[in-house]
Amino acid sequence: MMGVHGFKLHLFFGVLVAVIIAVAFGNSSPQLIRDRIRETDNPFMQSLLDMLENPVETARFFVSQVTLFSLIVWPLIIYCSIRIMRVMFEPLHVERKAGDMGYIMDDGRSKMEIANEMMRRRRPGNLPPVYPNGWFSVGRSMDLKKGDIWYKSMLGLELAVYRGEDGEARILHAYCPHMGANIAVGGRVKGNCLECPFHGWSFEGKTGEVQSIPYASKIPSNAKTKHYKCLELNGIIHLWYHAEGEEPSWYPPDVKDIQAGKMKYHGKTDHVVNAHIEEIPENGADLNHLTHLHEPILFTGRDLRHTTGGLGQYMSHLWEGEWHQDKDISHIGVLNLKTKIAVLGVTLPAIEINAKAEQVGPGLVYLHIFLPIFGEALLIQTVTPLEPLLQEVQHTVFAVPGMPRILAKFALWAESVQFERDLMVWNHKTYEAKPMLTKEDHLVGKHRRWYSQFYSENSPRFQFKKKDGLDW
Ligand code: FES
Ligand SMILES: [Fe+2]
Repeated sequence: MMGVHGFKLHLFFGVLVAVIIAVAFGNSSPQLIRDRIRETDNPFMQSLLDMLENPVETARFFVSQVTLFSLIVWPLIIYCSIRIMRVMFEPLHVERKAGDMGYIMDDGRSKMEIANEMMRRRRPGNLPPVYPNGWFSVGRSMDLKKGDIWYKSMLGLELAVYRGEDGEARILHAYCPHMGANIAVGGRVKGNCLECPFHGWSFEGKTGEVQSIPYASKIPSNAKTKHYKCLELNGIIHLWYHAEGEEPSWYPPDVKDIQAGKMKYHGKTDHVVNAHIEEIPENGADLNHLTHLHEPILFTGRDLRHTTGGLGQYMSHLWEGEWHQDKDISHIGVLNLKTKIAVLGVTLPAIEINAKAEQVGPGLVYLHIFLPIFGEALLIQTVTPLEPLLQEVQHTVFAVPGMPRILAKFALWAESVQFERDLMVWNHKTYEAKPMLTKEDHLVGKHRRWYSQFYSENSPRFQFKKKDGLDW
């Protein structure tokens, strides 16, 4: 569907063409226009005019030219051209909803039935707390326009996220302190405030203060609602979460080239993962799964039952990596990665890609991919706990100027295929509090110790209530 911006663009060009015609022909009558065209001696314009003046002849001519071949070939050429243009020039957008991906659906049950059953059957094990302390993504900046409001449920919080007229995003507690209406549902942005749909109380999102009550002579002195620390950076709206209510002890990196618009946006992918949050970043330190799960060549897809067959027997990804905590910044973990491709066991020397993944706190990853010749593509991964065992994972790709969009899109697509292989494992696994590790798995233990810094005494723990179910 054409978005509002697409419509505005079409309107703009429509008006432009109308203005050009008006300037060219002024107040001319149709006859005068035809005379002027005749005077131009332009053969193309002359034949166009002939066609317009003899519509029946023109129609006959076109019908005589139509053949079965042209009826098939021309639409096909036009369709393929549009597809190629879209692949080359449009940003990639993949959206997988809860239950869409990572389940086996051979027995006639719906995706949702299977996903819900997996959640119910899950043996929660001795889980770490479910909501670590840190900055989490609420969503992408580009998706929240001025005056937009989101109702978002995450980290056990009910949130109303909105963008005021001054262009700044704000986050309030969704339930109105007056009589409990959800201000994100039917509320509206007025200036920089969010107005409750029930009785019209108006709240300023940066302070939580009540700015106006339409029917009250005086605003009660304690009239206030809860607001959350909001930081918009690198195209992401972040929220600070801390179980003890402490102020932020660190901030996400400020990528100046994204902020300044030098690194260009090329696409995004959205997934929902049915697992504990820690499983996702832990994957980065689990180097031994790379050389198994991620070894078959990308083109064999994401269904683990089929990746090792077909092309997967002849072509593979080779991985080398190491993970460590950043020397100076304790909330950052670093994975350095090198990947190559092998055909029939022979490594292709020309295709070698280096990457550096910075795990920033519990729910943000900055994956720098260095492509030969063209430079850096930056993939930002955000992991947001929607529920104790349900994570929203978003990837957004930016690239340096000069990198063809098709390459940045390919990097994102490749990441999404590999991510969806992990997804199939995560959706069905249990969290092993005491994994049976070998010497070569020692980085998993190291990562767990590193990640434990994001839990504190009051970090919420998972309560498994079988009776209540966990259906989406
Ligand atoms: S419930 Fe929000 S104004 Fe009354
Ligand atoms: Fe993985």
